[in-house]
Amino acid sequence: MSLDGSNFVPPCARSSRKSPPPTLPAPPVTPAAVPEPGDLVGGVYRVLGPLGSGAMGVVLLANDESLGRRVAIKFIRAHLLDETFRERFTMEARAMARVNHPNTLQIYAFGEHDGAPYFVMELVDGLTLDVWMEKHPRPDLDAALVMLTQICSGVAAIHAASTVHRDIKPSNILVDDTQRPRVADLGLAILLRHEGDLQHEIVGTPAYMAPEVAFPGSVGDGLGDRADVYSLACVAYELLTGRLPFVTDGDRAMMFQHAVPSCTPWRRSPLSARRP
Ligand SMILES: Nc1ncnc2c1ncn2[C@@H]1O[C@H](COP(=O)(O)OP(=O)(O)OP(=O)(O)O)[C@@H](O)[C@H]1O
Ligand SMILES: [Mg+2]
Repeated sequence: MSLDGSNFVPPCARSSRKSPPPTLPAPPVTPAAVPEPGDLVGGVYRVLGPLGSGAMGVVLLANDESLGRRVAIKFIRAHLLDETFRERFTMEARAMARVNHPNTLQIYAFGEHDGAPYFVMELVDGLTLDVWMEKHPRPDLDAALVMLTQICSGVAAIHAASTVHRDIKPSNILVDDTQRPRVADLGLAILLRHEGDLQHEIVGTPAYMAPEVAFPGSVGDGLGDRADVYSLACVAYELLTGRLPFVTDGDRAMMFQHAVPSCTPWRRSPLSARRP
């Protein structure tokens, strides 16, 4: 099992999420409410150890003792256990439940353990796509196109469920040991018909962010599933060339790059230009 938890989401890209006032000490990063190996969750899921973590969640490997299979359990980070994040976490689980496709992840259960919400999902035994690309810096073109086609199918299934993912990037795509990609982490997903402030949030990851997401109200005419298609194009560019379409210092500069009509010309280059 070599899934890597290094998915980076710049703080500015989470600007709509609650953060502590600057005068208070930073909240603990250690997810105290997350169970330990050996603990039993929901009466049947025996925790075996960590699988990965991100800005919002901690994902654990567990054994479903009733069905005799391994699963992944996602917990919300302890310091995010307020109403806003609980609601967001529920939205993530519901978004997963709306989609059923070989290139997405299946959700099995939703519950609460010692006051901490969690959901149980299909386990992917493999790598995140960013790690996969590091291991395959010159992927065979046909293999890369097969991979991309499947990723697009997964995103299309999410869109068919009237949902926008809003954080398509390599570290949110899991590749199993048969090379099948799964579009994961619906933590920012919203319903296409969702009305209200969430439509105008500046969320996602600058290196893959569509202009209308980076500059809501100034660029484009609102959030649509095309924002994911834009991010997919950035992933395709990176997978096929080994570098990002835009390379700049700083999140804001990166977001501007997406909004102006220029792009780094393709050439074979060191992978150092890669970003999360
Ligand atoms: N179903 C799964 N099977 C195996 N590993 C998983 C699974 N889901 C997530 N992981 C691991 O946990 C990590 C974090 O998961 P996820 O991206 O859902 O968390 P997050 O906190 O929402 O991330 P982000 O920082 O992108 O918001 C993943 O990068 C991956 O390494
Ligand atoms: Mg993630």
